[in-house]
Amino acid sequence: MKYDFDEIIDRQHTNALNTDGFRGYIFHAGPEKKFKFADDEFVRMWVADMEFGVAPEILDAIRARLDKKILGYTLMYDPQYYDIFLNWCKTRYDWTFPREELTYSLGVIPALYQLVEDLVAKDEKVLTMTPAYGFFLHACEYNNVELVRNQLIHDGGHFSIDFDLLEKQASDPKVKVLMLCNPHNPSGRIWTAAELKKIAEIVEKYDLWVISDEIHCDVIRCGNRHTPMGKVMPDYKKLVTCMSASKSFNMAGLLFSHIIIRDEEERRRFIARDKVIGDLNPLSIAAHKAAYEKGGPWLEELKAYLDENFRYLKDFLSEYLPEAVFEIPEATYLAWVDMKSCLPGMSDSEMCSFFANEAGVLLEGGDDLFVGNATGYIRLNLAMPRATIVTGMERIRDAIYKRNAQRK
Ligand SMILES: Cc1ncc(COP(=O)(O)O)c(C=O)c1O
Repeated sequence: MKYDFDEIIDRQHTNALNTDGFRGYIFHAGPEKKFKFADDEFVRMWVADMEFGVAPEILDAIRARLDKKILGYTLMYDPQYYDIFLNWCKTRYDWTFPREELTYSLGVIPALYQLVEDLVAKDEKVLTMTPAYGFFLHACEYNNVELVRNQLIHDGGHFSIDFDLLEKQASDPKVKVLMLCNPHNPSGRIWTAAELKKIAEIVEKYDLWVISDEIHCDVIRCGNRHTPMGKVMPDYKKLVTCMSASKSFNMAGLLFSHIIIRDEEERRRFIARDKVIGDLNPLSIAAHKAAYEKGGPWLEELKAYLDENFRYLKDFLSEYLPEAVFEIPEATYLAWVDMKSCLPGMSDSEMCSFFANEAGVLLEGGDDLFVGNATGYIRLNLAMPRATIVTGMERIRDAIYKRNAQRK
């Protein structure tokens, strides 16, 4: 390997949500909350960013931009940017889209908040599959609109869509938007072209908008391929696709995403309502350009490393915690594990505290963080050096064994 994914990087004193923000995010608590472990003793397997250093090609591009010395107001004027991103889309997903459809946002989350505001009136509804990424719900709550939950079917760790339920829910005339997560966080499914086609049929039949959040589309298991919804619905106007290199290249803090809006009127409205009036971070543009131009080899090595991390987890669970229900996900660096049978009698609200206090592992799970249909599940972030995962998993195993022995 050319790149070092085993390096353990100290993130203290970088204002990282990952190291400093877990009290608020997971436990809804402030600095007064104490744990049995000190903050720097935790193995942090929670928020979806990585413990890996950013690709050197990207860091060099950021440095080169810094060498230009001035960081004034910046918007996207560089015509080459679209060409570079389009080439990435063409090569990786065999999909292209017209230049004028590409808009930018400081992130997918702010775009979701804005899109719901644009597309859904106060008495209307958004539909999504659960479990779901928490901010799908928060975007609805922010806009005071209802989120209709389409529960995914679980079968031995595999997740699939209940299309009959989806159609029934989509037929509610108040439902205006389907918020689709593809690949899906937290289950890690890459919806197949056939599944997406079935979704598309329902969407067209009930004339829904689709917001297709494809932020996880580049971190997939080796050999898999992502199908953008835009490829399945090539002529459907009411489609918005959200993509970014932020997750895949570990630069979420740079705040930059692509919001590809087909419908001209909605595109104009989205741009006009942008509360940061199109401003972008100059370092983010340099970083994203470098990622799409030069980041391919790093990403391929990352994927191979993650594949091994998932294999390790699968083997570990089979050997030590065989009651855990888990299937290696098709995409993302997140493992979604059903722990109900490993922790009989434990409620969702106790689970995160149990792992933090008894194992010294920070993780997310349950309905509170994943919107619903998530009882008994934990999400483990595996984007970290294998040695850290080994420590985390051994601590998780030992804490579960100890707890279950005490209950006997
Ligand atoms: C499905 C999904 N969408 C969006 C985001 C965050 O997007 P951004 O950082 O661009 O706001 C995440 C982060 O975990 C995610 O999982």
